[in-house]
Amino acid sequence: MLDKIMKTDEQYYMNTFGTRLPAVFERGEGVRLYDTDGNEYYDFLGGIAVNVLGHNHKALVNAISEQAKKMIHVCNYYYTESQAELAKVLCENSCADKAFFCNSGAEANEGAIKLSRKYHYAKGATDKSEIITMKNSFHGRTVTTVAATGQEKFQIPFRPMTETFIHVDINDIEMLKNTITEKTGAIMLELIQGESGVMPLSKEYVKEIRKICDEKDIVLIVDEVQTGIGRTGTLFCYEQYGIEPDIFTLAKALAGGVPVGAVLAKDKFCAFVPGDHGSTFGGNPLACSAALCVLDELLNKGVLEKSKETAEYLKNELEKLKSCYDIIENVRGAGLMLGIVFKKDISKELFKKMFEHRVLVSAVSTNVMRLVPPLIITKSDVDVFVARLKEVLDEYK
Ligand SMILES: Cc1ncc(COP(=O)(O)O)c(C=O)c1O
Repeated sequence: MLDKIMKTDEQYYMNTFGTRLPAVFERGEGVRLYDTDGNEYYDFLGGIAVNVLGHNHKALVNAISEQAKKMIHVCNYYYTESQAELAKVLCENSCADKAFFCNSGAEANEGAIKLSRKYHYAKGATDKSEIITMKNSFHGRTVTTVAATGQEKFQIPFRPMTETFIHVDINDIEMLKNTITEKTGAIMLELIQGESGVMPLSKEYVKEIRKICDEKDIVLIVDEVQTGIGRTGTLFCYEQYGIEPDIFTLAKALAGGVPVGAVLAKDKFCAFVPGDHGSTFGGNPLACSAALCVLDELLNKGVLEKSKETAEYLKNELEKLKSCYDIIENVRGAGLMLGIVFKKDISKELFKKMFEHRVLVSAVSTNVMRLVPPLIITKSDVDVFVARLKEVLDEYK
């Protein structure tokens, strides 16, 4: 089976992910995934911070299938209850007043960038077109969001880029202040940079940015595509920074695996008028019903609250490991978005070795193992993970 699928994939799939690890997954249950040979894996990657409720979650499967039986899609010329309801739940549980739906993180960020431009345009400030983003950030793969992404390696073959973005070092407020000009229209950032190594921005830095944005009428866009939906221990990561963004974006975990993205904004920044923006699939009933179920589980069924305890347990267990394995430099991140930082550039080989020990993780940067498991993991799942990680790290003693 594996050989056959690998051959078909090699011939017909446009490979952008390099050599994949040799498993064909066919089903999952909670934190566990099963390949076509019946092998069981612990999924501490959760589809890259997507499967917040794990696999085959009863309520989510039910919400999706019940909605599919009624209607999968209807276009945005008409109302649907689930879309209106999802916008309401998101706004009632955040600092935003309105939501727009799309299909992915990149698309949500494109929407946020357009919205910030339109905010200034509507006021006649058409020259406030520059956007400051952070070095080592990741905002998506479209031509504009890859330009926003502060990592040249993703941009080089696709130049010319959208010429709007200026990248600054994180946590360097003087550099940021020196970069701001009359043309600065927005500052966009991830509070914890996920793709480049689970690197948190400091609270003082973010608070200072908020102050500057208020003073200079600069739109603060927070990309919560990875950090949002309970990932870091609160529904949105900005809650832990003591600030409120003007616009923030969501995707990944929002519908637990059904593609959806969202742009959330405060009233003042809701500058789109009919015709400015749109999406065929965005916010369709299937995606919105799934997202409503995810939010219900997180907020009303105790998933978010319980995940905080498990996250603390995981962090403590990893700290204990640090004292036994000299190769671990430190553990950083928040909630169930953690990075184990190693003293050597071994993250790629650990990614493979953990897979051989039937655990899925990811390698971000050359020396960081990223853990973004489903929020439903239990302490005993953590114990299994830690035991297998120990087996792997014993080789480096
Ligand atoms: C912070 C952040 N923003 C945007 C994106 C892009 O999301 P998508 O792959 O859904 O377009 C990602 C994906 O990893 C991300 O981590």
